[in-house]
Amino acid sequence: MFTADVDKAREFYEGILGLRLSDRSGSLIAFLHTPHGSDHHLIALAKSGGGGLHHTSWCVPSIDEVGQGAQQMVRAGYREGWGLGRHVLGSNYFYYVRDPWGSYAEYSFDIDYIAAGQEWPAGDHPAEDSLYAWGPDVPEEFVFNAEITVPA
Ligand SMILES: [Fe+2]
Repeated sequence: MFTADVDKAREFYEGILGLRLSDRSGSLIAFLHTPHGSDHHLIALAKSGGGGLHHTSWCVPSIDEVGQGAQQMVRAGYREGWGLGRHVLGSNYFYYVRDPWGSYAEYSFDIDYIAAGQEWPAGDHPAEDSLYAWGPDVPEEFVFNAEITVPA
């Protein structure tokens, strides 16, 4: 999710909803998990000029299904996207498909899991680690908040 203030949004998700920080990159992006056992992040908060949805993520059971999903969407005419690649934070394989509204749907496989009660030392990582370990170059339009409208 995009937000104008990552730190303030974190206060809400941590203080009111009880989520916990998994990893972050300064005040640019924060990844949060639940204390009862969850993926590395149920939600990530990314700095932008305002609120918005960047992507939803859909877990699939294998890297083959990440590739097959990508292939299916390309064949259906959805050629804009990013991947195949692997994230650093969460360490999942990914392929993002741009949807008709300008945000993305992510095929995801093998994200880190943080078990209930597990000590997870949240790190503050360099900005480049918030994107990927390997994969194609990040498309220019990838980090774009389609929900911020320009006043007429
Ligand atoms: Fe994601």
